[in-house]
Amino acid sequence: MINPDLLRQELQEKISLVSSLEELNQLKASVLGRKGQLTQYLRSLGELPLEQRKILGAQLNSLKVELESFFLARERELEEARIRESLEKGRVDVTLPGIRPPLGRRHPLLQVWEEIEDAFLSLGFDIYEGPEVEWEYYNFGALNIPPDHPARDMWDTFYITDKMLLRTHTSPDQIRCMEEQRPPIKAIMPGLVYRHEAVDATHMDVFVQIEGLVVDKDTTFADLKGTLELFVSLIFGPGRKTMFVPSYFPFTEPSAELLILWDDEKGHNAAGGKWLEVLGCGQVHPQVLRNVGLDPQVYSGFAFGLGVERIAMLKYNIPEIRLFMENDLRFLEQFG
Ligand code: DAH
Repeated sequence: MINPDLLRQELQEKISLVSSLEELNQLKASVLGRKGQLTQYLRSLGELPLEQRKILGAQLNSLKVELESFFLARERELEEARIRESLEKGRVDVTLPGIRPPLGRRHPLLQVWEEIEDAFLSLGFDIYEGPEVEWEYYNFGALNIPPDHPARDMWDTFYITDKMLLRTHTSPDQIRCMEEQRPPIKAIMPGLVYRHEAVDATHMDVFVQIEGLVVDKDTTFADLKGTLELFVSLIFGPGRKTMFVPSYFPFTEPSAELLILWDDEKGHNAAGGKWLEVLGCGQVHPQVLRNVGLDPQVYSGFAFGLGVERIAMLKYNIPEIRLFMENDLRFLEQFG
């Protein structure tokens, strides 16, 4: 004989002991499901005599309603516990130290490159860029570099065809610049240049140059000197002693080299410092002006070309040009 009170007690206890939603659902199915215990009892009522059926039927039906609400209550409890637990697990400990992402930095060569560009931009220069693959004419001929000049030798220059090459300097951009725009011109032209060179501590077969060109109606050598002295003070700090010494480039006349007095231990201007070459410069050769259709009786100008690696090596006392290319973090992390 079925005792609804005992059944209630028994099931209530089972429900309260269940510890997960899955278990609870299983239990619920085994009691109230299609083949569940209580469902079976309700089904078997028909076999009982009418009086008994009435009483037990009513009891079992109200037990069913009660059980449903027990299950629901326990389900809520378990659900709440589950949420509490997952909140607990996912809690962020705000007192823990944070994780610092590794910060990148500009390559030292790019830093100096940009610094030089900024210096000239602040002096009113524009930036102009030309191609790295260049015609022999722009790299040599238009710059007044004669066919028998040693720079034209295939051992100094990477030729692509006999008329086309990897530019050996940024000076061909002077020609391109003057062909494209009429004076007044005041521009710098940065970029990579290539030389068929034995690599050593101070020579690479690819490096960065910045060319400068000023062309107008009455520029003089004094403008060249003033501009480059300002540039030196912007890059190396004020008070550096500079010296212009005569030099030779086919595309400038007169030509000069700019030297600065270098003595780290004893200070900028100390006696006994070394004079170090910073760049080549000069007044644009009349033939170069003629080559781009400018009348040297009307126009004059000055030009200069510097190696960015060289400036960076001077500025930071770097003994080895190859360090710029080796990507050794111990070196790179010292800058910026
Ligand atoms: N193009 C020269 C070189 O690569 C550097 C140079 C010297 C550029 C004098 C100039 C200049 O514009 O006036 O060695």
